[in-house]
Amino acid sequence: MGVPPHRFATMRAMPSPHHLFLTTSTREPGHVGNTEWLARQAAAALPADGAQTWLHLAQLELPPFVDLRHTAGQYPAPTGDMKTLLDATLAATDIVFVAPVYWFSIPSPLKTYLDHWSGWMRVPGLGFKEAMAAKTLHLVTTSGDRAKAQPMVDSVQLCAQFLGMRFAGALWGKGGPPGAVQADAAAVEAAASFLIADCAHP
Ligand SMILES: Cc1cc2nc3c(=O)[nH]c(=O)nc-3n(C[C@H](O)[C@H](O)[C@H](O)COP(=O)(O)O)c2cc1C
Repeated sequence: MGVPPHRFATMRAMPSPHHLFLTTSTREPGHVGNTEWLARQAAAALPADGAQTWLHLAQLELPPFVDLRHTAGQYPAPTGDMKTLLDATLAATDIVFVAPVYWFSIPSPLKTYLDHWSGWMRVPGLGFKEAMAAKTLHLVTTSGDRAKAQPMVDSVQLCAQFLGMRFAGALWGKGGPPGAVQADAAAVEAAASFLIADCAHP
């Protein structure tokens, strides 16, 4: 028995999963922080046939964002590390912010990256906002306690909503010095299903 034509069309339209992990801790290179460790537990549970890209924002050249909205009104296509980031962002079906809580908010490299979304929305012909609306945003975070992460979780959720992205929620663990989150049994258990439970892609 064959697959009905309408069902076949639905299956073909699904892109294969590609998770972009943006790590944003500012620990020195070579020091894996709590948030990245927790994110790697979540990533390990993803199907082997899906793609994963990991980029460390603090190790990339992120120029300060300049607001041209009410002067030039548009932006040139990015170059260098910003092009790498834009291309990786557009290639992903799922974007995972791997972001510790800094001052009840996101680390500054992630804030700079997000500010550049405002410019990418105004690169002629790019269609950034439309492309983002097809993607899912996830957040992995650690902090001293869960309550202190809430403003940052709310902020990330609102960013997703602004671009019409689906927000798939936050995975939180109790951080501190490197390795601390490994003692948070609830976080480690939640990591095992955080990305796959949500996986909307076959
Ligand atoms: C600049 C800075 C600001 C921080 N602000 C907060 C905060 O507002 N609330 C909190 O609970 N922890 C705060 N912390 C602690 C980190 O969230 C915590 O140690 C986290 O686990 C670090 O993540 P990492 O190991 O992945 O780098 C802060 C740490 C730094 C370096």
